[in-house]
Amino acid sequence: MTPTRRTLLGLGAAGLVGTVLAACSSDASGGDGGGGGDSGEMITIGFVAVGPEGAWRQANEENIQETFTQEAGFELKYAPATSLDQKSQIDAFTSFVDEGVDVILLSATEGSGWEESLNRAQEAEIPVLLIDRGIEPDDTDLYVTRLAPDNIAVSTSVAEWALETFPDGAKYFVLEGPAGVSVVNERNEGWNAVMEGESSFTDLGAQTANWSTEEAKSVFETVLKSNSNDVQLVFAQNDEMGLGAAQAVEEAGLVPGEDVKIATIDGTTAALEALAAGTLSFVAEYNPLFGDQAMEAVNTALDGGEVESYIQVESTTFDSPEAAEEALPDRKY
Ligand code: AHR
Repeated sequence: MTPTRRTLLGLGAAGLVGTVLAACSSDASGGDGGGGGDSGEMITIGFVAVGPEGAWRQANEENIQETFTQEAGFELKYAPATSLDQKSQIDAFTSFVDEGVDVILLSATEGSGWEESLNRAQEAEIPVLLIDRGIEPDDTDLYVTRLAPDNIAVSTSVAEWALETFPDGAKYFVLEGPAGVSVVNERNEGWNAVMEGESSFTDLGAQTANWSTEEAKSVFETVLKSNSNDVQLVFAQNDEMGLGAAQAVEEAGLVPGEDVKIATIDGTTAALEALAAGTLSFVAEYNPLFGDQAMEAVNTALDGGEVESYIQVESTTFDSPEAAEEALPDRKY
């Protein structure tokens, strides 16, 4: 397979190229894209964040904090969850509403359970923008916009790679993120929409490893044992879990990239290094660096402009060691 890097423009299950929505084309603040509004006062941003979760999360949350700076006219209040606990997020959200911040950014640890909080923000006329994670059910009246790469398109690209790589099919296992997280449901949707119709592929099951390398290694060790090592493909829904599966493969005396091919989502440096080494076989980027798009959307919303309910963040894929080696020198996360 020739090394390629395809840029996903929102390939949906039907393969239609979606439109990469320009984030709010006009700089409605009239200035350099910064906040501060007409009064010149700081725009206060309450960021209800996930907190420590892995390399992707760290890159995403650092990028948001590096974008919404005082120089840009913002005072960002960072509120990471306590141990990924949704209640701590709801408490922080409520505090920001009571404090009367100008805008709330929300990366939800759980997809459901946000209606009451979002309604309170709406009553207080505080715009809410979703960062990465969606809410379920997805009521677009409850928030201004969601910014994220297209999870369905990203996982569809993994499935399409699998069909190309295994023309005669394969036995596969899926390592999922935590139950109840919106992106996990979306990634399952994209993958299943392609794989369900492929009779030459055997679904050996799926299990969460909670985005964790250690947990993924433990889970996949068990999967290999219970299938007598007869597993050819792993879809790991993030890089850390894919690297954990690779460790399990090696400890079973097998060769990752040969006996078992592992595909992951995120595109962190560690994953691209593993792809360059042949340990991983496919990496679908889930671009975490969209602070600029978020800032444009915030400024447009505060100026009363129209903001699309979904702003798609462009992502690409890497399907060979050569593609990884080409990307690594400039990798930003
Ligand atoms: O919501 C994005 C997911 O959360 C990333 O794919 C994963 O690495 C992170 O923990």
